Amino acid sequence: MKTRNYHLLILSSFCILCHLLGEAVRTKNKIYISIDGRSSCFRRLNATHQIGCTSEPNGNVGVVHHISTEDDLNWLLNKGPHAPYAALMHSTYFKMDNVQRLKNSGKINGIMVIHLLENKTLTEIPPSFSPDKSCPLEEYGMYQGTNYSGCQSIKWNKEGQGMMFEDFDFPIFILTNQTEVELIIEECYRKFNQPDPNGNPRDYPLCAVELKDRMDAAKDSETCIRRTNHQQNLNPDKYCDPLGDLNVYATIKAVNNTSDYPVKSVIVAAARMDSFSMFDNVYPSADNHVSGIVALLAAAEAIGKFKDKIKGNVLSKDILFTFLNGEAFDYIGSSRLVYDMQRNQFPLPLSGAAYLHPVTLDHISHFVEVNQLAYRDDNKLWIHTDPISRKNISVEIDTMIKTLKDCGNSSEVGIEEVNNSQPLPPASVQSFLKEKLSIPAVVISDHQREFTNKYYNSRFDLVSQINASYPDSVNKSDWYDYVTVQAKELTKVSTMLARFLYNLSMADSPPDDLNASEKSVTHMLYCFLVSPQCELFREILTADFSKDLSAAPYPFYVGVTIVNNHITALIEKLLGLYVGDKMDNYTSDSCVQPSSDKVYQYMWMQGPLIQNSTSRDGKCIRTTSNTSLAVSPAFTADGNIDENNWRSGRYSAWAESSWAADAISIRLFLIPNPKLEIVTLVIGMVILILSFILCFIFNKKASVIFANNVAENSSITTSHVPS
Ligand SMILES: *[C@@H]1O[C@H](CO)[C@@H](O)[C@H](O)[C@H]1NC(C)=O
Ligand SMILES: *[C@@H]1O[C@H](CO)[C@@H](O)[C@H](O)[C@H]1NC(C)=O
Ligand SMILES: *[C@@H]1O[C@H](CO)[C@@H](O)[C@H](O)[C@H]1NC(C)=O
Ligand SMILES: *[C@@H]1O[C@H](CO)[C@@H](O)[C@H](O)[C@H]1NC(C)=O
Ligand SMILES: *[C@@H]1O[C@H](CO)[C@@H](O)[C@H](O)[C@H]1NC(C)=O
Ligand SMILES: *[C@@H]1O[C@H](CO)[C@@H](O)[C@H](O)[C@H]1NC(C)=O
Ligand SMILES: *[C@@H]1O[C@H](CO)[C@@H](O)[C@H](O)[C@H]1NC(C)=O
Ligand SMILES: *[C@@H]1O[C@H](CO)[C@@H](O)[C@H](O)[C@H]1NC(C)=O
Ligand SMILES: *[C@@H]1O[C@H](CO)[C@@H](O)[C@H](O)[C@H]1NC(C)=O
Ligand SMILES: *[C@@H]1O[C@H](CO)[C@@H](O)[C@H](O)[C@H]1NC(C)=O
Ligand SMILES: *[C@@H]1O[C@H](CO)[C@@H](O)[C@H](O)[C@H]1NC(C)=O
Ligand SMILES: *[C@@H]1O[C@H](CO)[C@@H](O)[C@H](O)[C@H]1NC(C)=O
Repeated sequence: MKTRNYHLLILSSFCILCHLLGEAVRTKNKIYISIDGRSSCFRRLNATHQIGCTSEPNGNVGVVHHISTEDDLNWLLNKGPHAPYAALMHSTYFKMDNVQRLKNSGKINGIMVIHLLENKTLTEIPPSFSPDKSCPLEEYGMYQGTNYSGCQSIKWNKEGQGMMFEDFDFPIFILTNQTEVELIIEECYRKFNQPDPNGNPRDYPLCAVELKDRMDAAKDSETCIRRTNHQQNLNPDKYCDPLGDLNVYATIKAVNNTSDYPVKSVIVAAARMDSFSMFDNVYPSADNHVSGIVALLAAAEAIGKFKDKIKGNVLSKDILFTFLNGEAFDYIGSSRLVYDMQRNQFPLPLSGAAYLHPVTLDHISHFVEVNQLAYRDDNKLWIHTDPISRKNISVEIDTMIKTLKDCGNSSEVGIEEVNNSQPLPPASVQSFLKEKLSIPAVVISDHQREFTNKYYNSRFDLVSQINASYPDSVNKSDWYDYVTVQAKELTKVSTMLARFLYNLSMADSPPDDLNASEKSVTHMLYCFLVSPQCELFREILTADFSKDLSAAPYPFYVGVTIVNNHITALIEKLLGLYVGDKMDNYTSDSCVQPSSDKVYQYMWMQGPLIQNSTSRDGKCIRTTSNTSLAVSPAFTADGNIDENNWRSGRYSAWAESSWAADAISIRLFLIPNPKLEIVTLVIGMVILILSFILCFIFNKKASVIFANNVAENSSITTSHVPS
């Protein structure tokens, strides 16, 4: 009897406790609000430094402060008593000097930047913004140790503030969901934190945010890769992966490795494929480098229609189209291509084992690179050359320039030469000239001196900034075929390029009907910059892949080597289509490389829709289009350090930190007065101690207490439990 009653008491206490716990969990759910529309700055590492952002393991907490005016910023720096803060900034205030001031104040724990391009009230595109350096890629270019080094004559990226290459020990996010931004401003900041009109701070409770952006790697790429390798356990954690992907190339002549391939018989036509921004998944890249990619692809298409003429002429030069990847990170793709060429390893029979003749640096007769093309300075394009090599090979270079100007004239493109004592801007060809100065090279670009693109490698290098977006009067369904101002101009540029390449190859003026297709340029701009769910991309893929096309543009960031980029695969297919041949009588099953033909890849494409039908006219394309490694020689193919090449210090050594699945999040909540919290804690502990003492006494005296109870309530007890 006695013990049963005692149990009842414990049971009911336990129930009350459970109830309280349940209540606590529910309250926690009410307090925390998750912010999903976000994209974070993350950490990357090179051979000597770490750059980017990270948070504490469990996130950084800060009181939300909204910065939409200079006064807001100064208030936080000079007054704000509730540090640490988390700044919610408008894009115009998110610039290097402000971020430095915030960082140096020691008063902030994180930054959120509003990035809502569709709402001009919340996101104004600043007059300029580039997180890249003012002298990009200088350390790995060709001018180290010359009197052109360090952008002495021209700071190419004048707007570059180098924010990308800073090391922040707090997280930085951009916020991309309007509802959530309004929630933070209205329900969190205005309601709880906004200082009163006289600038006096508010009292607790305050609205705070927990910013979590925890990166695994630290220090430099060597440290994190060696740390990964030195683990003893069976499931090693990866701390970082090298940056890299694949280059894309195709040749017109398809010379196999048993045929004659004289030196100086290959023209390289190159464009860069990648860019970056500080924030994950936000790489719009309109000028840098979609304009160049599209112009070169359209030129390849135009040349492809005349390739039989080039192939039929034994004296013509071959044209090697190449799209280089990882160039934004110290020339990963071009330095790898040069490295492979120096070792007779390009093209390697990678996929599909194409036994093309190796191309070495000695095979290169001319180098034509297209750079940014969309913001034409003075409505013209500009020809850049290298003043050092030009001293020795001025005849070849002068001839190239004259030919190019003539082709510009016949294509109605204004094109001029820059002052020939000016060094080359950042360009992939620098990786080649660094190794062999006697390659005649021109770089075609939209800027005469400093970049005309004020948003180089940033989240604002947008389609709307290059006159390639659509007027409001045009229906969304008509966008795909709507020829924008930019598409018209780029088509002319492509025509010029195609004629120039033809002329260099055949040493003869190009046919009058050698023209780039305005339709292709229009479609490519739409597919790369507006939506990959477009007919052109559907046509070049197999049915399976075309179903999975993303609605949002694919990122132009090179990413890590272990992930294959969509952009690379799409450019390989487009180039394949444009320089390849359609094979009759092949099906999707028989479209595979036959053992008798190791030079070509065979690509199945589901083809265009048949008129008035939902089925498609599939085709098998035989093409030289293929990929080669764009992994820095400082790394081995499986992501380890290649000791010799690493030590030489000549190659890019960028790696990206890994992070756990739950390492990135933003949560809002209220924080009570810390003094009140202490009082609560103290009261709680007093109660706890009291209850321990009571329990102890109860336990000791249980027999006495319950004996009385039992005696008093004996009738009840007995009626319930028959004995
Ligand atoms: C832009 O944001 C402001 C402030 O939140 C809001 O009042 C306005 O309605 C928004 N405009 C659009 C077009 O969404
Ligand atoms: C760079 O040095 C070379 C000689 O080494 C000289 O001819 C040239 O004028 C110099 N250029 C500049 C920009 O100082
Ligand atoms: C690594 O990056 C930092 C920051 O941009 C730079 O200062 C440093 O020179 C780089 N190190 C190497 C070896 O390229
Ligand atoms: C924005 O956030 C709200 C609230 O979290 C959510 O309901 C909405 O679907 C989000 N919008 C987009 C476009 O993701
Ligand atoms: C290489 O090409 C030449 C000329 O097209 C051809 O005669 C020869 O058979 C080819 N060799 C191989 C191994 O495919
Ligand atoms: C041509 O390339 C294939 C594949 O790389 C190789 O097996 C063959 O020996 C090469 N032939 C010559 C003559 O180099
Ligand atoms: C220029 O040509 C001469 C003779 O061919 C050669 O010795 C010299 O190294 C070359 N200079 C450069 C900068 O290529
Ligand atoms: C092309 O050249 C002709 C004659 O030299 C000149 O009159 C014309 O303006 C040029 N056209 C362009 C677009 O530069
Ligand atoms: C080219 O630049 C050099 C050095 O900056 C200058 O002396 C020369 O006058 C310029 N030439 C022209 C044609 O502008
Ligand atoms: C876009 O078009 C406007 C008006 O035609 C022009 O002023 C501006 O320079 C163009 N911008 C670019 C990047 O071409
Ligand atoms: C393809 O098939 C058609 C009909 O069967 C035939 O007439 C034609 O010659 C074939 N073409 C080739 C290249 O084999
Ligand atoms: C497709 O349909 C349109 C209108 O429905 C018709 O005018 C046209 O002749 C059809 N084309 C074919 C190839 O059947």
